[in-house]
Amino acid sequence: MPLPPLIETFRRAGQSQVFAFFEQLDPAGQRQLLQEAAEIDLAEVDRLTRTLLTGSASAGVPFADLTPAPYEALPAQGGEAAAWARAKAAGEEELRAGRVAAFTVAGGQGTRLGYDGPKGTFPVTPLRHKPLFQVFAEKIQAAGVRYGQPLHWFIMTSHQNHGATVAFLEEHRYFGLDRARVHCFRQGRMPAVDFAGRILLETPGTLALSPDGHGGSLRALERSGALDLMRREHIETLSYFQVDNPLVRCVDPAFIGWHRLRGSQMSSKMIPKAYPEEKLGHFCLLDGRLVVVEYSDLPLAMQRETTPDGQLRFRAGSIAIHMLDREFIRGIAAGGEGVALPFHRADKKIPTVDAAGRPVKPAQPNGVKFELFVFDAQPFAAHPLVIETSRADDFSPVKNATGVDSPQTCRDDQLRQFARWLRANGAEVATDASGRPHAGLEVSPRFGYDEDSFAESWGRLSPRPAITDGLYLDCNPP
Ligand code: UD1
Repeated sequence: MPLPPLIETFRRAGQSQVFAFFEQLDPAGQRQLLQEAAEIDLAEVDRLTRTLLTGSASAGVPFADLTPAPYEALPAQGGEAAAWARAKAAGEEELRAGRVAAFTVAGGQGTRLGYDGPKGTFPVTPLRHKPLFQVFAEKIQAAGVRYGQPLHWFIMTSHQNHGATVAFLEEHRYFGLDRARVHCFRQGRMPAVDFAGRILLETPGTLALSPDGHGGSLRALERSGALDLMRREHIETLSYFQVDNPLVRCVDPAFIGWHRLRGSQMSSKMIPKAYPEEKLGHFCLLDGRLVVVEYSDLPLAMQRETTPDGQLRFRAGSIAIHMLDREFIRGIAAGGEGVALPFHRADKKIPTVDAAGRPVKPAQPNGVKFELFVFDAQPFAAHPLVIETSRADDFSPVKNATGVDSPQTCRDDQLRQFARWLRANGAEVATDASGRPHAGLEVSPRFGYDEDSFAESWGRLSPRPAITDGLYLDCNPP
Protein backbone atom coordinates (compact mmCIF):
# COMPACT_ATOMS: atom_id res chain seq x y z
CA MET A 1 0.00 0.00 0.00
CA PRO A 2 1.33 3.50 -0.78
CA LEU A 3 2.19 5.59 2.26
CA PRO A 4 -0.13 8.51 3.05
CA PRO A 5 1.04 11.78 1.43
CA LEU A 6 1.34 13.44 4.85
CA ILE A 7 4.31 11.18 5.61
CA GLU A 8 6.07 12.42 2.51
CA THR A 9 5.33 16.03 3.52
CA PHE A 10 6.97 15.40 6.89
CA ARG A 11 9.93 13.70 5.24
CA ARG A 12 10.50 16.67 2.97
CA ALA A 13 10.34 19.00 6.00
CA GLY A 14 13.12 16.94 7.66
CA GLN A 15 10.66 15.45 10.17
CA SER A 16 10.60 11.80 9.04
CA GLN A 17 11.37 10.60 12.63
CA VAL A 18 7.71 11.27 13.43
CA PHE A 19 6.81 8.19 11.39
CA ALA A 20 9.79 6.02 12.38
CA PHE A 21 7.52 3.39 13.94
CA PHE A 22 4.52 3.89 11.68
CA GLU A 23 4.66 0.46 10.11
CA GLN A 24 4.70 -1.23 13.50
CA LEU A 25 1.44 0.45 14.55
CA ASP A 26 -1.94 -1.19 14.11
CA PRO A 27 -4.38 0.57 11.74
CA ALA A 28 -6.08 2.50 14.59
CA GLY A 29 -2.67 3.62 15.90
CA GLN A 30 -1.65 4.71 12.42
CA ARG A 31 -4.83 6.72 12.04
CA GLN A 32 -4.27 8.43 15.38
CA LEU A 33 -0.70 9.37 14.57
CA LEU A 34 -1.75 10.74 11.19
CA GLN A 35 -4.46 12.77 12.88
CA GLU A 36 -2.03 14.27 15.36
CA ALA A 37 0.47 15.00 12.60
CA ALA A 38 -2.22 16.71 10.55
CA GLU A 39 -2.68 19.23 13.42
CA ILE A 40 0.86 20.45 13.00
CA ASP A 41 1.76 23.52 11.05
CA LEU A 42 5.15 22.46 9.69
CA ALA A 43 5.95 25.92 8.37
CA GLU A 44 5.35 27.35 11.83
CA VAL A 45 7.61 24.73 13.45
CA ASP A 46 10.28 25.52 10.89
CA ARG A 47 9.98 29.26 11.53
CA LEU A 48 10.16 28.76 15.30
CA THR A 49 13.19 26.53 14.94
CA ARG A 50 14.97 29.20 12.93
CA THR A 51 13.96 32.13 15.12
CA LEU A 52 13.88 30.66 18.64
CA LEU A 53 16.25 27.68 18.50
CA THR A 54 19.22 28.71 16.43
CA GLY A 55 19.50 31.92 18.43
CA SER A 56 20.70 33.96 15.48
CA ALA A 57 17.42 35.76 15.00
CA SER A 58 16.34 35.69 18.63
CA ALA A 59 14.81 39.04 19.43
CA GLY A 60 15.74 39.62 23.07
CA VAL A 61 14.14 42.46 25.01
CA PRO A 62 16.37 45.58 24.93
CA PHE A 63 16.25 45.95 28.70
CA ALA A 64 18.01 49.32 28.75
CA ASP A 65 15.12 50.82 26.80
CA LEU A 66 12.43 49.70 29.26
CA THR A 67 10.69 52.20 31.48
CA PRO A 68 7.98 51.53 34.07
CA ALA A 69 4.45 51.69 32.64
CA PRO A 70 2.07 54.31 34.01
CA TYR A 71 -1.11 53.14 35.72
CA GLU A 72 -4.29 54.54 37.28
CA ALA A 73 -3.66 54.53 41.03
CA LEU A 74 -6.40 53.57 43.47
CA PRO A 75 -7.99 56.51 45.30
CA ALA A 76 -6.31 55.31 48.50
CA GLN A 77 -2.95 55.59 46.69
CA GLY A 78 -3.47 59.06 45.27
CA GLY A 79 -5.86 58.32 42.38
CA GLU A 80 -8.82 60.59 41.67
CA ALA A 81 -11.82 59.29 43.63
CA ALA A 82 -14.35 60.94 41.29
CA ALA A 83 -12.80 59.27 38.24
CA TRP A 84 -13.00 55.87 39.96
CA ALA A 85 -16.65 56.53 40.86
CA ARG A 86 -17.40 57.43 37.24
CA ALA A 87 -15.67 54.26 36.07
CA LYS A 88 -17.63 52.10 38.48
CA ALA A 89 -20.94 53.62 37.37
CA ALA A 90 -20.03 53.06 33.71
CA GLY A 91 -19.04 49.45 34.43
CA GLU A 92 -22.31 48.76 36.24
CA GLU A 93 -24.12 50.07 33.18
CA GLU A 94 -22.19 47.60 30.98
CA LEU A 95 -23.14 44.75 33.31
CA ARG A 96 -26.81 45.76 33.37
CA ALA A 97 -26.74 45.84 29.57
CA GLY A 98 -25.19 42.34 29.44
CA ARG A 99 -22.20 43.50 27.40
CA VAL A 100 -19.58 41.64 29.48
CA ALA A 101 -18.84 37.92 29.90
CA ALA A 102 -16.45 36.12 32.24
CA PHE A 103 -13.53 34.13 30.83
CA THR A 104 -11.35 31.67 32.74
CA VAL A 105 -8.17 30.17 31.33
CA ALA A 106 -7.97 26.70 32.82
CA GLY A 107 -5.83 24.79 30.36
CA GLY A 108 -2.65 24.74 32.44
CA GLN A 109 -1.25 21.52 33.86
CA GLY A 110 -0.86 22.65 37.50
CA THR A 111 2.45 20.83 37.74
CA ARG A 112 3.77 22.98 40.59
CA LEU A 113 0.75 22.26 42.80
CA GLY A 114 1.17 18.53 42.27
CA TYR A 115 -2.59 18.05 42.02
CA ASP A 116 -3.89 15.35 39.77
CA GLY A 117 -6.92 16.72 37.97
CA PRO A 118 -8.10 19.98 36.43
CA LYS A 119 -6.97 22.80 38.72
CA GLY A 120 -10.49 24.24 38.78
CA THR A 121 -11.61 21.17 40.73
CA PHE A 122 -9.09 21.87 43.52
CA PRO A 123 -10.80 22.67 46.88
CA VAL A 124 -9.86 26.12 48.18
CA THR A 125 -12.34 27.69 50.59
CA PRO A 126 -11.65 27.54 54.33
CA LEU A 127 -14.77 25.79 55.69
CA ARG A 128 -16.74 24.24 52.87
CA HIS A 129 -13.70 23.38 50.78
CA LYS A 130 -15.42 24.59 47.64
CA PRO A 131 -13.45 24.00 44.47
CA LEU A 132 -12.16 26.92 42.43
CA PHE A 133 -14.80 26.42 39.73
CA GLN A 134 -17.56 26.67 42.34
CA VAL A 135 -16.16 29.93 43.73
CA PHE A 136 -16.15 31.48 40.25
CA ALA A 137 -19.57 30.05 39.38
CA GLU A 138 -21.13 31.52 42.50
CA LYS A 139 -19.52 34.92 41.91
CA ILE A 140 -20.73 34.94 38.33
CA GLN A 141 -24.22 33.87 39.35
CA ALA A 142 -24.43 36.51 42.08
CA ALA A 143 -23.24 39.27 39.74
CA GLY A 144 -25.89 38.18 37.23
CA VAL A 145 -28.58 38.48 39.88
CA ARG A 146 -27.28 41.81 41.12
CA TYR A 147 -27.23 43.42 37.67
CA GLY A 148 -30.38 41.71 36.40
CA GLN A 149 -28.52 40.11 33.50
CA PRO A 150 -27.19 36.53 33.79
CA LEU A 151 -23.62 36.36 32.56
CA HIS A 152 -22.05 34.00 30.06
CA TRP A 153 -18.95 32.18 31.28
CA PHE A 154 -16.29 30.93 28.89
CA ILE A 155 -13.78 28.37 30.16
CA MET A 156 -10.72 27.38 28.18
CA THR A 157 -9.58 23.83 28.83
CA SER A 158 -6.84 21.71 27.29
CA HIS A 159 -6.90 18.35 25.52
CA GLN A 160 -5.69 16.77 28.76
CA ASN A 161 -8.35 18.18 31.05
CA HIS A 162 -11.36 18.98 28.85
CA GLY A 163 -13.30 15.78 29.50
CA ALA A 164 -12.64 15.84 33.23
CA THR A 165 -13.58 19.53 33.45
CA VAL A 166 -16.90 19.11 31.66
CA ALA A 167 -17.72 15.95 33.62
CA PHE A 168 -17.04 17.81 36.88
CA LEU A 169 -19.25 20.75 35.96
CA GLU A 170 -22.00 18.39 34.79
CA GLU A 171 -21.77 16.37 37.98
CA HIS A 172 -22.23 19.55 40.02
CA ARG A 173 -24.94 20.93 37.71
CA TYR A 174 -22.79 23.90 36.85
CA PHE A 175 -23.05 25.03 40.47
CA GLY A 176 -26.41 26.62 39.87
CA LEU A 177 -25.57 28.39 36.61
CA ASP A 178 -27.65 27.96 33.49
CA ARG A 179 -25.59 25.40 31.58
CA ALA A 180 -26.54 27.09 28.31
CA ARG A 181 -24.42 30.03 29.44
CA VAL A 182 -21.31 28.02 30.35
CA HIS A 183 -19.04 27.36 27.38
CA CYS A 184 -16.02 25.07 27.68
CA PHE A 185 -13.65 24.83 24.73
CA ARG A 186 -10.21 23.36 24.18
CA GLN A 187 -7.09 25.34 23.51
CA GLY A 188 -4.72 24.38 20.73
CA ARG A 189 -1.61 22.22 20.98
CA MET A 190 1.96 22.65 19.87
CA PRO A 191 4.54 19.93 19.26
CA ALA A 192 7.65 19.82 21.41
CA VAL A 193 10.93 19.65 19.50
CA ASP A 194 14.49 18.65 20.35
CA PHE A 195 17.22 21.29 20.29
CA ALA A 196 17.68 20.74 16.56
CA GLY A 197 14.02 21.41 15.86
CA ARG A 198 12.99 17.77 15.30
CA ILE A 199 9.46 17.05 16.50
CA LEU A 200 9.53 14.63 19.44
CA LEU A 201 7.46 11.49 19.81
CA GLU A 202 6.02 10.79 23.23
CA THR A 203 5.48 7.13 22.36
CA PRO A 204 6.08 5.30 19.08
CA GLY A 205 2.52 6.19 18.05
CA THR A 206 1.94 9.61 19.61
CA LEU A 207 3.53 13.03 19.37
CA ALA A 208 4.78 15.07 22.32
CA LEU A 209 2.05 17.71 22.15
CA SER A 210 1.33 20.31 24.81
CA PRO A 211 -1.04 23.25 25.30
CA ASP A 212 -0.08 26.33 23.29
CA GLY A 213 -0.07 28.69 26.31
CA HIS A 214 -2.78 30.99 27.61
CA GLY A 215 -2.12 33.26 24.65
CA GLY A 216 -3.58 30.42 22.60
CA SER A 217 -6.90 31.44 24.15
CA LEU A 218 -7.34 34.21 21.59
CA ARG A 219 -7.24 31.90 18.59
CA ALA A 220 -9.19 29.22 20.47
CA LEU A 221 -11.96 31.75 21.20
CA GLU A 222 -12.23 32.39 17.47
CA ARG A 223 -11.91 28.76 16.37
CA SER A 224 -14.45 27.48 18.90
CA GLY A 225 -17.12 29.92 17.76
CA ALA A 226 -17.06 31.78 21.09
CA LEU A 227 -16.53 35.15 19.40
CA ASP A 228 -19.49 34.58 17.10
CA LEU A 229 -21.62 33.59 20.04
CA MET A 230 -20.53 36.79 21.80
CA ARG A 231 -21.54 38.84 18.78
CA ARG A 232 -24.96 37.18 18.64
CA GLU A 233 -25.43 37.89 22.35
CA HIS A 234 -24.17 41.50 22.02
CA ILE A 235 -21.24 40.82 24.35
CA GLU A 236 -18.47 43.31 23.65
CA THR A 237 -15.85 42.47 26.25
CA LEU A 238 -14.39 39.51 28.10
CA SER A 239 -13.28 39.73 31.70
CA TYR A 240 -10.24 37.41 31.66
CA PHE A 241 -8.79 35.69 34.74
CA GLN A 242 -6.74 32.64 35.66
CA VAL A 243 -8.16 29.51 37.23
CA ASP A 244 -5.68 29.65 40.12
CA ASN A 245 -6.99 32.83 41.81
CA PRO A 246 -10.20 32.50 43.86
CA LEU A 247 -9.99 36.05 45.20
CA VAL A 248 -10.44 37.56 41.74
CA ARG A 249 -13.38 39.87 41.13
CA CYS A 250 -14.65 37.90 38.15
CA VAL A 251 -16.43 40.98 36.85
CA ASP A 252 -15.32 44.24 38.42
CA PRO A 253 -17.49 47.28 37.57
CA ALA A 254 -14.69 49.81 38.12
CA PHE A 255 -12.30 47.88 35.85
CA ILE A 256 -14.97 47.42 33.18
CA GLY A 257 -15.79 51.13 33.36
CA TRP A 258 -12.17 52.30 33.08
CA HIS A 259 -11.75 50.04 30.07
CA ARG A 260 -14.89 51.36 28.39
CA LEU A 261 -14.47 55.07 29.20
CA ARG A 262 -10.89 55.06 27.88
CA GLY A 263 -11.88 53.31 24.68
CA SER A 264 -9.26 50.66 25.47
CA GLN A 265 -9.17 47.40 23.53
CA MET A 266 -7.20 45.59 26.22
CA SER A 267 -6.77 46.63 29.84
CA SER A 268 -4.96 45.01 32.75
CA LYS A 269 -4.80 45.14 36.51
CA MET A 270 -1.59 45.65 38.45
CA ILE A 271 -0.60 45.40 42.08
CA PRO A 272 2.60 46.85 43.51
CA LYS A 273 5.03 43.95 43.86
CA ALA A 274 5.45 42.88 47.48
CA TYR A 275 9.21 42.29 47.08
CA PRO A 276 11.62 42.43 44.14
CA GLU A 277 11.74 38.70 43.46
CA GLU A 278 7.97 38.20 43.58
CA LYS A 279 7.05 36.03 40.60
CA LEU A 280 4.91 38.51 38.69
CA GLY A 281 5.27 39.87 35.18
CA HIS A 282 6.16 43.59 35.00
CA PHE A 283 4.20 46.26 33.13
CA CYS A 284 6.73 48.31 31.17
CA LEU A 285 6.88 50.70 28.26
CA LEU A 286 9.07 49.87 25.28
CA ASP A 287 9.17 52.43 22.45
CA GLY A 288 5.97 53.90 23.84
CA ARG A 289 4.17 50.54 23.80
CA LEU A 290 2.80 48.73 26.80
CA VAL A 291 4.49 45.35 27.32
CA VAL A 292 4.74 42.76 30.08
CA VAL A 293 8.22 41.46 30.85
CA GLU A 294 8.13 38.16 32.71
CA TYR A 295 9.72 37.72 36.12
CA SER A 296 12.03 35.12 34.64
CA ASP A 297 13.23 37.56 31.94
CA LEU A 298 13.73 40.94 33.65
CA PRO A 299 17.28 41.05 35.09
CA LEU A 300 17.25 40.82 38.89
CA ALA A 301 19.19 44.07 39.19
CA MET A 302 16.32 45.84 37.42
CA GLN A 303 13.72 44.08 39.55
CA ARG A 304 15.57 45.46 42.60
CA GLU A 305 15.96 49.07 41.36
CA THR A 306 14.26 51.64 43.56
CA THR A 307 13.07 55.22 43.06
CA PRO A 308 14.29 58.07 45.32
CA ASP A 309 11.21 57.59 47.55
CA GLY A 310 12.26 53.99 48.17
CA GLN A 311 9.62 52.23 46.04
CA LEU A 312 10.48 49.56 43.50
CA ARG A 313 10.99 51.23 40.13
CA PHE A 314 9.37 48.37 38.18
CA ARG A 315 6.70 47.79 40.79
CA ALA A 316 3.65 47.28 38.57
CA GLY A 317 3.13 43.52 38.82
CA SER A 318 0.76 41.72 36.45
CA ILE A 319 -1.82 39.51 38.11
CA ALA A 320 -3.14 38.24 34.80
CA ILE A 321 -6.54 39.94 34.96
CA HIS A 322 -7.53 41.62 31.72
CA MET A 323 -10.42 43.13 29.81
CA LEU A 324 -10.36 42.18 26.14
CA ASP A 325 -12.66 43.47 23.42
CA ARG A 326 -14.27 40.90 21.15
CA GLU A 327 -13.21 42.40 17.83
CA PHE A 328 -9.70 43.03 19.11
CA ILE A 329 -9.42 39.33 19.95
CA ARG A 330 -10.66 38.51 16.45
CA GLY A 331 -7.94 40.63 14.91
CA ILE A 332 -5.20 38.99 16.96
CA ALA A 333 -6.61 35.52 16.28
CA ALA A 334 -6.49 36.19 12.55
CA GLY A 335 -2.79 37.03 12.96
CA GLY A 336 -1.21 38.43 9.85
CA GLU A 337 1.50 41.00 9.40
CA GLY A 338 2.42 42.81 12.57
CA VAL A 339 -0.35 41.52 14.85
CA ALA A 340 0.60 37.90 15.52
CA LEU A 341 1.51 36.96 19.07
CA PRO A 342 5.12 35.80 19.37
CA PHE A 343 5.90 32.32 20.67
CA HIS A 344 8.10 31.91 23.74
CA ARG A 345 10.54 29.06 24.18
CA ALA A 346 10.63 26.94 27.34
CA ASP A 347 13.32 24.27 27.72
CA LYS A 348 11.79 21.19 29.37
CA LYS A 349 12.35 17.56 30.23
CA ILE A 350 10.10 15.94 27.70
CA PRO A 351 9.30 12.22 27.96
CA THR A 352 10.09 10.65 24.62
CA VAL A 353 11.36 7.43 22.97
CA ASP A 354 14.80 6.32 21.83
CA ALA A 355 15.71 5.02 18.38
CA ALA A 356 14.34 1.59 19.32
CA GLY A 357 11.05 3.07 20.50
CA ARG A 358 11.84 2.51 24.20
CA PRO A 359 10.58 5.16 26.67
CA VAL A 360 13.07 7.80 27.79
CA LYS A 361 12.50 9.92 30.92
CA PRO A 362 15.16 12.62 30.62
CA ALA A 363 16.87 13.94 33.76
CA GLN A 364 17.89 17.15 31.97
CA PRO A 365 15.95 19.32 29.52
CA ASN A 366 16.02 17.54 26.18
CA GLY A 367 13.79 19.80 24.16
CA VAL A 368 11.67 22.86 23.81
CA LYS A 369 7.99 23.71 24.16
CA PHE A 370 6.49 26.73 22.46
CA GLU A 371 3.91 28.89 24.21
CA LEU A 372 1.90 32.03 23.52
CA PHE A 373 1.24 34.54 26.29
CA VAL A 374 -1.96 36.57 26.36
CA PHE A 375 -0.25 39.71 27.64
CA ASP A 376 1.71 39.89 24.39
CA ALA A 377 -1.51 41.16 22.81
CA GLN A 378 -1.26 44.36 24.82
CA PRO A 379 1.16 46.20 22.48
CA PHE A 380 -1.33 45.78 19.62
CA ALA A 381 -4.27 47.28 21.51
CA ALA A 382 -5.61 50.79 21.01
CA HIS A 383 -5.50 52.90 24.19
CA PRO A 384 -4.19 50.09 26.40
CA LEU A 385 -4.68 50.76 30.06
CA VAL A 386 -3.36 49.51 33.39
CA ILE A 387 -5.25 50.13 36.61
CA GLU A 388 -4.20 49.42 40.16
CA THR A 389 -6.12 46.99 42.32
CA SER A 390 -5.84 45.97 45.93
CA ARG A 391 -4.08 42.68 46.36
CA ALA A 392 -6.26 41.78 49.35
CA ASP A 393 -9.37 41.93 47.18
CA ASP A 394 -8.19 40.54 43.88
CA PHE A 395 -5.20 38.25 44.13
CA SER A 396 -4.25 35.20 46.12
CA PRO A 397 -3.34 32.43 43.72
CA VAL A 398 -2.85 28.76 44.48
CA LYS A 399 0.31 27.77 42.64
CA ASN A 400 2.53 25.77 45.01
CA ALA A 401 1.75 22.89 47.35
CA THR A 402 3.38 24.72 50.28
CA GLY A 403 4.91 28.11 51.09
CA VAL A 404 4.02 31.21 49.08
CA ASP A 405 0.91 31.13 46.89
CA SER A 406 -0.21 27.84 48.40
CA PRO A 407 -3.61 26.51 49.56
CA GLN A 408 -2.74 27.69 53.08
CA THR A 409 -1.88 31.30 52.15
CA CYS A 410 -4.98 31.43 49.95
CA ARG A 411 -7.27 30.21 52.75
CA ASP A 412 -5.75 32.80 55.10
CA ASP A 413 -6.32 35.57 52.56
CA GLN A 414 -9.96 34.54 52.11
CA LEU A 415 -10.44 34.56 55.89
CA ARG A 416 -8.91 38.05 56.13
CA GLN A 417 -11.24 39.28 53.42
CA PHE A 418 -14.32 37.88 55.20
CA ALA A 419 -13.16 39.51 58.47
CA ARG A 420 -12.61 42.87 56.73
CA TRP A 421 -16.09 42.80 55.20
CA LEU A 422 -17.66 41.93 58.54
CA ARG A 423 -15.76 44.64 60.41
CA ALA A 424 -16.53 47.27 57.78
CA ASN A 425 -20.19 46.57 58.50
CA GLY A 426 -19.89 46.90 62.26
CA ALA A 427 -19.42 43.25 63.32
CA GLU A 428 -16.97 42.44 66.09
CA VAL A 429 -14.37 40.01 64.77
CA ALA A 430 -11.34 38.96 66.78
CA THR A 431 -8.26 38.69 64.56
CA ASP A 432 -4.51 38.38 64.85
CA ALA A 433 -2.21 41.25 63.87
CA SER A 434 -2.41 40.27 60.18
CA GLY A 435 -6.21 40.58 60.21
CA ARG A 436 -6.77 36.82 60.14
CA PRO A 437 -9.82 35.94 62.23
CA HIS A 438 -9.45 33.51 65.11
CA ALA A 439 -12.75 31.89 64.12
CA GLY A 440 -13.03 29.78 60.99
CA LEU A 441 -15.53 31.64 58.73
CA GLU A 442 -16.81 31.46 55.22
CA VAL A 443 -18.90 33.80 53.13
CA SER A 444 -20.52 32.29 50.08
CA PRO A 445 -20.11 34.51 47.02
CA ARG A 446 -23.89 34.27 46.73
CA PHE A 447 -24.08 36.21 50.00
CA GLY A 448 -21.28 38.61 49.15
CA TYR A 449 -18.65 38.51 46.40
CA ASP A 450 -17.30 42.03 46.96
CA GLU A 451 -17.63 44.73 49.60
CA ASP A 452 -20.81 46.21 48.10
CA SER A 453 -22.73 42.97 47.67
CA PHE A 454 -21.62 41.84 51.13
CA ALA A 455 -22.81 45.11 52.72
CA GLU A 456 -26.22 44.75 51.03
CA SER A 457 -26.77 41.18 52.21
CA TRP A 458 -25.47 41.92 55.69
CA GLY A 459 -27.74 44.95 55.92
CA ARG A 460 -30.75 42.73 55.17
CA LEU A 461 -29.82 40.07 57.75
CA SER A 462 -32.02 39.95 60.80
CA PRO A 463 -31.11 38.78 63.32
CA ARG A 464 -27.36 39.02 62.71
CA PRO A 465 -25.42 35.91 63.65
CA ALA A 466 -22.67 35.93 66.27
CA ILE A 467 -19.19 35.60 64.77
CA THR A 468 -18.33 32.14 66.04
CA ASP A 469 -16.18 29.35 64.75
CA GLY A 470 -17.82 27.64 61.80
CA LEU A 471 -20.00 30.60 60.72
CA TYR A 472 -21.07 30.19 57.10
CA LEU A 473 -23.03 32.95 55.39
CA ASP A 474 -25.07 32.07 52.34
CA CYS A 475 -28.18 33.54 50.72
CA ASN A 476 -29.93 30.49 49.49
CA PRO A 477 -28.19 27.50 51.00
CA PRO A 478 -28.35 24.42 48.77
C1 UD1 B 1 1.43 33.85 35.36
C2 UD1 B 1 1.98 34.96 34.47
C3 UD1 B 1 2.61 36.06 35.27
C4 UD1 B 1 1.65 36.56 36.31
C5 UD1 B 1 1.17 35.41 37.18
C6 UD1 B 1 0.08 35.88 38.13
C7 UD1 B 1 2.70 33.75 32.49
C8 UD1 B 1 3.81 33.33 31.63
N1 UD1 B 1 2.99 34.40 33.58
O1 UD1 B 1 2.52 33.14 35.87
O2 UD1 B 1 2.99 37.15 34.42
O3 UD1 B 1 2.30 37.54 37.10
O4 UD1 B 1 0.60 34.38 36.38
O5 UD1 B 1 -0.46 34.81 38.83
O6 UD1 B 1 1.57 33.55 32.20
N2 UD1 B 1 -2.88 28.31 31.14
C9 UD1 B 1 -3.67 27.79 30.14
N3 UD1 B 1 -3.06 27.18 29.10
C10 UD1 B 1 -1.72 27.06 28.98
C11 UD1 B 1 -0.92 27.57 30.01
C12 UD1 B 1 -1.52 28.19 31.08
O7 UD1 B 1 -4.90 27.89 30.20
O8 UD1 B 1 -1.26 26.51 27.98
C13 UD1 B 1 -3.52 28.97 32.28
C14 UD1 B 1 -3.40 28.17 33.56
O9 UD1 B 1 -4.45 27.24 33.68
C15 UD1 B 1 -3.48 29.28 34.59
C16 UD1 B 1 -2.78 30.47 33.90
O10 UD1 B 1 -2.87 30.20 32.52
O11 UD1 B 1 -4.82 29.65 34.85
C17 UD1 B 1 -1.35 30.76 34.36
O12 UD1 B 1 -0.48 29.78 34.02
P1 UD1 B 1 0.89 29.51 34.76
O13 UD1 B 1 1.74 28.78 33.83
O14 UD1 B 1 0.60 28.89 36.09
O15 UD1 B 1 1.50 30.98 34.97
P2 UD1 B 1 2.51 31.55 36.09
O16 UD1 B 1 3.91 31.13 35.81
O17 UD1 B 1 1.99 31.26 37.44
